[in-house]
Amino acid sequence: MKKITIIGTGYVGLVTGACLAEKGNRVTCLDIDTEKVDSLKAGKIPFYEPGLEELVQRNVAAGRLHFTGDYNEAIPGTDVCFLALPTPCNEDGSCNTSYILKAATQLAENLDNDLIVVNKSTVPVGTAEDVERTIQSSLKTRGVEIRFEMVSNPEFLREGSAVSDCMNPDRILLGIHSQKAELVMRELYTPFSVDHDRILVMDVFSAELAKYASNAMLATRLSFMNNLALFCEKVGADIQQVRKAMGADQRIGDKYLKAGIGFGGSCLPKDVKALKAMGALKSHSMPILDSVLEINQGQQETFFQKIEGRLEPLEGKTIAIWGLSFKPDTDDLREAPALFLIEKLLNAGASLRLFDPIAMPKAKLLLNQYDQVLFCEDEYEAAKEADAIILATEWNQFQFIDFEKIGALMQNKTLFDGRNQYQKSEMQKLGFDYFCIGTPKEATPLSSAYAPTQ
Ligand code: UDX
Repeated sequence: MKKITIIGTGYVGLVTGACLAEKGNRVTCLDIDTEKVDSLKAGKIPFYEPGLEELVQRNVAAGRLHFTGDYNEAIPGTDVCFLALPTPCNEDGSCNTSYILKAATQLAENLDNDLIVVNKSTVPVGTAEDVERTIQSSLKTRGVEIRFEMVSNPEFLREGSAVSDCMNPDRILLGIHSQKAELVMRELYTPFSVDHDRILVMDVFSAELAKYASNAMLATRLSFMNNLALFCEKVGADIQQVRKAMGADQRIGDKYLKAGIGFGGSCLPKDVKALKAMGALKSHSMPILDSVLEINQGQQETFFQKIEGRLEPLEGKTIAIWGLSFKPDTDDLREAPALFLIEKLLNAGASLRLFDPIAMPKAKLLLNQYDQVLFCEDEYEAAKEADAIILATEWNQFQFIDFEKIGALMQNKTLFDGRNQYQKSEMQKLGFDYFCIGTPKEATPLSSAYAPTQ
């Protein structure tokens, strides 16, 4: 049992803290946002993440998980302190590590014993050294002698499956200098690595870079598939079939190959930009990353053009959007393709009927000021009198739709499937004018699609 402090209660910090508490450690999660701390103390999670609330409540009740806004309460006596702070993009795309360095200073100001400091945030190569220098300088100013060691332990969890990713990780990556720190970290993580050894130990720089490399590789796969999907439309191939054929090759693997309306979220876009900026600092160009970002932006734009081309003029049209979060099982709207489409459609004068199973409260905060936006109770209400539906996020409940009922509610039976969720042949049988990604489409002429229904 270790005494652990986690600084930062976002997705990474809170999930890591709750999972470490679940494995029997005494964990204090520290955040300077006192409102958030109060709500966590009351058992309320500030974002939607399946399984997290129960996990937090169980460990709070068992006395293993605590929350505070006070460094002085959290830090003394800590064996291992995790830094899990936001690392947003600067304007030039580089990573802003100021939250981490500020937390490192506050940590040092409250230290009273030797410990291990673990960086969990996604940070540029060399940040562990910066943190080390920051802590050393603060300890020197205080005139105290405390020994600490830096470990880099990047987190690979995905939103929407963060708890299970953290409990059953593919790998636990440790960038470590000394055997002593390795022993402590192995002890901490062995309960997460029982079936087979998932712990990878390496130097700190490689661990720091590996996180960016992994996310950039994932983004590259997606941009490759998205770009290929548009080519499929031109040559009459079907990206779904091409994907199956590619994925059957074990060297390629079948995961993370689904074409869609572009990737979003708080990590992939930011991390590709940050890796590019890191390269630029060393005069190392990474042109592949430029293409990844350009294709991703273009994918959203092309999808919008598809919608515009079919519904022109957009002014006065009513469009339903199913799914707003950047992916299912989260209420996170950061860099969500739906937001890009909403902005374009509103600018073009369309009226929108929005529905998302979980992200409605966050969407309302963002979009409440628009008169042309209506927030709906469910996907059926959203479809009422609509000229078209856009599926922007593939939530599970959108798999089980009564499309006969939907068709009867709509003004015109047009469906833009941004996630390739439905069968083209079935949708066409039901009388829908159906558009997806990466399958050729002989569009019905506008004039006949908008003819009055009998
Ligand atoms: C990602 C990484 O997967 C994770 O390891 C890291 O710690 C944080 O960044 P996350 O952003 O939560 O996780 O989501 P992820 O499931 O990776 O999806 C990212 C984006 O890619 C989403 O917009 C998703 O819709 C899109 N995606 C994913 C596709 O378009 N096709 C796919 O086949 C997979």
